[in-house]
Amino acid sequence: MTAANDDQAKPMAITVGNEFVLYKGDALIVGVFHEKELSPAGRSLDDTLGGVLTSVLESGDIDGSKDQLALVYVHGRIPAPRVLLIGLGPRDEVTAEGLRRASGNALRHLRGLGLGSAGSVLHSGVPGTGESVGQALAEGALLGLYEFCEYRSPDPKRPPKRLASMSLLDADPGRREELKRGTAIGEAIARATIIARDLSNEPPNRLPPAVLADRVSALAQSAGVACTVLGPEQLREQGFNTILAVGQGSANPPALIVLEHNANLDEAPLVYVGKGICFDSGGLSLKTAGGMVEMKHDMSGAAAVIGAVLAAAELGIARRVVGIVAAAENMPSGTAQRPGDVVRAYGGTTIEVLNTDAEGRLVLADALAYAVSLNPKAVVDVATLTGAVVTALGHQACGMLGREDDSSAALMDRVRAAAAATHERVWQLPLWDDYDEDVKSDVADIKNVGSGAAGTIAGAAFLKRFVGNHAWAHLDIAGVFASDKTTGYSVKGASGFGTRLLTQLARDWTD
Ligand code: BES
Ligand code: MN
Ligand code: ZN
Repeated sequence: MTAANDDQAKPMAITVGNEFVLYKGDALIVGVFHEKELSPAGRSLDDTLGGVLTSVLESGDIDGSKDQLALVYVHGRIPAPRVLLIGLGPRDEVTAEGLRRASGNALRHLRGLGLGSAGSVLHSGVPGTGESVGQALAEGALLGLYEFCEYRSPDPKRPPKRLASMSLLDADPGRREELKRGTAIGEAIARATIIARDLSNEPPNRLPPAVLADRVSALAQSAGVACTVLGPEQLREQGFNTILAVGQGSANPPALIVLEHNANLDEAPLVYVGKGICFDSGGLSLKTAGGMVEMKHDMSGAAAVIGAVLAAAELGIARRVVGIVAAAENMPSGTAQRPGDVVRAYGGTTIEVLNTDAEGRLVLADALAYAVSLNPKAVVDVATLTGAVVTALGHQACGMLGREDDSSAALMDRVRAAAAATHERVWQLPLWDDYDEDVKSDVADIKNVGSGAAGTIAGAAFLKRFVGNHAWAHLDIAGVFASDKTTGYSVKGASGFGTRLLTQLARDWTD
């Protein structure tokens, strides 16, 4: 990594300060509600500025609709030279999601101008506690400024731009305390999401399973999270045969990575399981060239799980949380598994492998069976499992599937609540027992592909065989693991989807 990129990669510092009219940074960020209503802080700033902001609103350049933006130069009447007005929509309807988006858009706009610091009063007059609002503004800013620049050489003519600091400004000391608590939470969650994005964006030649395991061990160590890595020999000794089968065609051996936060707590763990296919070529059931393009991201479920366990530790969540990552590279070769092979998963279930491109469910079979051996209070798996979920839901929501019994239905309600808070949309698809037929095999207990209809459900019907009666929810994130454009706090490339959701689920968990 070059020095310039190294500097650019440093996250923005977030502080909480006083007296926004005296703020000495490069710009103030001020909210405007629909219709043409300045926030309370904006009104007081407008008074100081002799009505400049009111005249901007009267000009019609901005009416307070969501995601609008107007830059005003204030000619020395306050120390900050610029005010960036941001539309937030109707005041009573401003949500955490609206604030995350606005904060991301605002900070990225100011960075685009080459500015180094910003004072934000976007929290002024919006619904919510200082803590919730501070969290949203910190998350939105840090995630909106995210860039994956590890492998880009800096252009000597255009030095990299870095916005080094943001201050949330409020004159009320009580409110400042709440904002501080919120920004600390938001920073921890954004950092974890950025780890997930970084891992998912990493090129596949730079992140085979063993390197993923090394990186995760290092991250776990500095977060105080216990981490165990099983390499190929241990996988063989302990019967993790589906992970080995998927990995056997690759020169890069597979690994099972187990993270544990609060390992010493005497309680049943909340277990998160991630699909960690570092590259999915399809194996001998080879994908097309086009179908492989995004397959470095096929470990995005694993990335979300890793991020969430690290966030749980950073936030000091008082619950036992385990993350299990099944990491392998799915490649075609003379040693690769063949369509027709039968493999015995951890725990004994036999699987007829009819399509080597349905490898995610194979590695999850071992990982879920292992999760169940930990006697979990709930299991949530996250996986880029099926192209079919993109057909069903597009890029707006992940698919959620689980059994309809009380324990899984209650878990899915909790997942829905967490997803509503973080705006990582989940949409449930049915998983009635009628679908079990689809994965029945003539030669083994189960086969790894269905009839071709309802592909996402067939994938879940397969996974269901490995979780017994435990509370379980499956999240198929194949439509949402990446963003195709930069807007709000989404940045083109890996989205980190699932990290915030799983973190929220653990934070909100009550027995
Ligand atoms: N990793 C893919 C699913 C995927 C597709 C993720 C597009 C992200 C974007 C998965 O391993 C896969 O290949 N699934 C097959 C399953 C089929 C062979 C039953 C699919 O969806 O076609
Ligand atoms: Mn595949
Ligand atoms: Zn895959």
